[in-house]
Amino acid sequence: MRLLLRKEEVQRKVRQLARKISSDLGGKEVLLVGVLKGAFIFMADLARSMASPVKMDFVRLSSYGAGTVSSGKVRITKDLETSLKGKDVLIVEDIIDTGVTLQYLFRRLKARKPRSLRTVALLDKPSRRKVRFQADYVGFTIEDLFVVGYGLDCNEEFRNLPGIYVLK
Ligand code: IMP
Ligand code: MG
Repeated sequence: MRLLLRKEEVQRKVRQLARKISSDLGGKEVLLVGVLKGAFIFMADLARSMASPVKMDFVRLSSYGAGTVSSGKVRITKDLETSLKGKDVLIVEDIIDTGVTLQYLFRRLKARKPRSLRTVALLDKPSRRKVRFQADYVGFTIEDLFVVGYGLDCNEEFRNLPGIYVLK
């Protein structure tokens, strides 16, 4: 494994994102929707750095297909427990790869009539996109590399690493 982003760099970026998002919200409450499992550590840190009042909920998605390749068919396997109607909602995701997952989730949640719906991803691999999707907030733009740590896994391993590493 090769270190890509040190713990301190990640922490600094998460605080910057939280400041920017809070300032864009102008003090309004936001419902954070975390995409399990990968986003749970990012969301925990982001939520604690937000200046605006925060509520939290989670979804779990599964994409049919094996390994690291998204088949393009996504479904919700654990839905939200909160109504989105009239709320300012922020989807919190670990990483955007093909964009299939977030595009699907965005459309599904938009249909529930939130007042606003935005997305934040800690990491983005734009060169891998198969569908057009752009997050409102991105922490780091990276090359086409498979990364682990800070919530991201490879077969459930390495989620607890405080930094972000490239698997090789
Ligand atoms: P997408 O639908 O292709 O954008 O897939 C995004 C999902 O794939 C993320 O939520 C991750 O769960 C997973 N993923 C994509 N790239 C990586 C990576 O480099 N490391 C770990 N998981 C990844
Ligand atoms: Mg994920």
